[in-house]
Amino acid sequence: DSLEDINTDIITLPRFIIETQQNVKDAKGDFTLVLNALGFAFKFISQTIRKAELINLVGITGNTNSTGDEQKKLDVLGDEIFINAMKGSGIVKILVSEEQEDLIIFHHNDSKYAICCDPIDGSSNLDAGVSVGTICSIFRILPGSSGTTKDILRQGTEMVAACYAMYGASTHLMLTLGNGVNGFTLDNTLGEFILVHPDLRIPSQKSIYSINEGNTFFWSQTIIDFIEKLKRPEDNANDKPYSARYIGSMVADIHRTFLYGGLFAYPADTKNTHGKLRLLYEAFPMAMLIEQAGGKAVNDKGERILDLIPTHIHDKSSVWMGSCDDVDKYLKHINKL
Ligand code: AHG
Ligand code: MN
Ligand code: MN
Ligand code: MN
Repeated sequence: DSLEDINTDIITLPRFIIETQQNVKDAKGDFTLVLNALGFAFKFISQTIRKAELINLVGITGNTNSTGDEQKKLDVLGDEIFINAMKGSGIVKILVSEEQEDLIIFHHNDSKYAICCDPIDGSSNLDAGVSVGTICSIFRILPGSSGTTKDILRQGTEMVAACYAMYGASTHLMLTLGNGVNGFTLDNTLGEFILVHPDLRIPSQKSIYSINEGNTFFWSQTIIDFIEKLKRPEDNANDKPYSARYIGSMVADIHRTFLYGGLFAYPADTKNTHGKLRLLYEAFPMAMLIEQAGGKAVNDKGERILDLIPTHIHDKSSVWMGSCDDVDKYLKHINKL
């Protein structure tokens, strides 16, 4: 390799935040602290997952969380890592976590942010070494608030940022500050997230559907018909049948959707009458990221996910998200387009 081939001018996450904030009026650098704390939590969780099998961290705890999920040891440890990282940032006032019944309030002067997180998404896949992740939505707390549920039971459009980390063959970070999506990959030797997908756009169409088809028996006829239609594209001779891809980790299924395109869905069914995925820390942040990359995110009724308002911190929603044309196909099927 000649010396010129080595890029010494790489964009790390801190550099990206500093350069982005220069264009934002009134930015005081406080958001840099939030991103620092998030980056630290993602690195810590990533390292813990990578050695879990070797240090007796596989398996379940025997407890159940407030949405009825069995808790894995890593769900609990990931939650602890995340909570302590946010506490240590000094800038986060409220934290909602999938693994905590109630919201947590930190008493720091000047703390301005509320973060909702799914510390380990896809935890049923953990012990098989399949990709899992961490998902976060970020709100700025209401002016003068001392930290209540009012700061987070808000329309999805009020998020100021959203991101997820995926712990796969590499550790990836996808981030939106409401102005497009940027994708980073962790360089383990530097301990830094490096910008590799500036202004990532989701392909407008791809014939891939990602849904737990084992639930067919519990679906409404409308959904059964739609998925059947994707497999038998009779209406258009050029249309090829959709391929099925379902990992069962939302982060991994959404990460593939970002890069390849397609449709990811978790509809309501007779077992999960409001869907399975939780609004504040699964549906909202992914919907913001997908929209910011040019895709669409709606619920079973065709309502925009980001227009919904949760009434409880662990509220759930049905979701259909991904490439614009593929979500539109669903909207046409339910006569909402
Ligand atoms: P979590 O592991 O955070 O509880 O989330 C699980 C979610 C999500 O990752 C995935 O899309 C979905 O549950 C999978 O559900 P099924 O196993 O019912 O398909
Ligand atoms: Mn869970
Ligand atoms: Mn999850
Ligand atoms: Mn989880």
